Amino acid sequence: MKIGIDKIGFYVPRYYLDMTSLAKERNQDVNKYKIGIGQHKMSVISPAEDIVTMALEAANSILTKEDKIAIDTILFATETAIDYSKAAGNYVHRMLGLQHNIRILELKQACYAATGSLQLALDYVRMQPDKKVLVLSSDVAWYGFNTPGEATQGAGAIAMLVSTNPRLAEVHKGTFTTEELPDFYRPSYQEVPIVDGHLSIRCYNDMLKRVDPHKNFLYTCFHMPFANMAVKANKVYSHPISDEKIEIVKAFTQEVGNIYNGSLFLSLISVLSLAKESLENETIGMFSYGSGAIGEFFSLTIQEGYQKVFNKNEILKHLDNRDEIDFKTYQSYMTFYKEKEVTHQFIESDFKPHPQNTFVLEQMIQGHRIYKKVSG
Ligand code: CAA
Repeated sequence: MKIGIDKIGFYVPRYYLDMTSLAKERNQDVNKYKIGIGQHKMSVISPAEDIVTMALEAANSILTKEDKIAIDTILFATETAIDYSKAAGNYVHRMLGLQHNIRILELKQACYAATGSLQLALDYVRMQPDKKVLVLSSDVAWYGFNTPGEATQGAGAIAMLVSTNPRLAEVHKGTFTTEELPDFYRPSYQEVPIVDGHLSIRCYNDMLKRVDPHKNFLYTCFHMPFANMAVKANKVYSHPISDEKIEIVKAFTQEVGNIYNGSLFLSLISVLSLAKESLENETIGMFSYGSGAIGEFFSLTIQEGYQKVFNKNEILKHLDNRDEIDFKTYQSYMTFYKEKEVTHQFIESDFKPHPQNTFVLEQMIQGHRIYKKVSG
């Protein structure tokens, strides 16, 4: 029985900051960001959005009425949770109008939790083949102003529908390794992570070497805290892919930045959208890394006719149609983000939602979030 990803959806905020604007303000050579780190743009979350609205946009782009009836589990992976108790998936459940006999869990293991959720979902569906699991990942990578991580920020969400007879990709079991490491963490009293970026790169590469399958794949996708991490990983990997293919693997990350849990899957979407050759029946390698730390290597086989459930034109349109913002707007949006997530005070009427968005955060009342469907 084949089990895997039936459909995959993504969402990145409609606004971005070009790295040229950031470099100018931070007195840095723009080539450090664009060539050294590999980042061209950074997606910036707008005031009426949060991890829930981003997950909603991603899920809404793939789910039909029939899917909604078959889903009996939501696994929401995030390392930028909005609540220590209530799972963000509860809000998703309400806004998507899903049935009530459903389990909802929020999972955390740095940037790895989406991969862990996907693998757990495979086993769940294997035991209950008539069920579908909605795996969501949604994060805001925010390191703070004037920090080394600032150039590697981003925001975005991925939605994956896991089922039997998947139309997009059969997902295979992975090999994983875990070790407690202090490369990146965010204690509950901190708004931004404590990160040793250079240590993290070493931990990442060490984990990759431990789980490297020593096999050739047409493409291998990598978790990317910044786009050139794929270049660094490819150098320690036993079966490196060509420079031309690495450009395809990292293309979307260059345009978006780090989206934490969704980053590996954004790389997959990049390959599905930009690969020149047919991917039908091809197996793709996937390396997932979560600081703290865990590494897993798994693979997936793209199904025949996958183009019917993967609309690359819509995805490219979404990326191309974003609006550039200037540095001052970036500063005000991220200041607002920081204050909203700390004070939990927010009234949407102060900000106009982007006309292309379907879901917005309307209000927060004593920390309880109220969302609105504005179109569709
Ligand atoms: N022109 C071209 N290249 C230049 C340049 C210039 N003018 N100036 C510098 N460079 C190059 C450097 O040579 C370097 O290249 P190499 O890496 O190939 O040596 C590159 O640009 C970066 O320069 P630095 O190393 O000097 O930059 P930095 O000290 O500011 O740090 C960084 C870069 C480590 C990526 C930093 O931005 C960072 O810490 N970012 C956060 C990374 C992160 O999120 N780590 C966690 C990883 S895992 C994850 O995603 C999180 C999870 O699980 C939670």
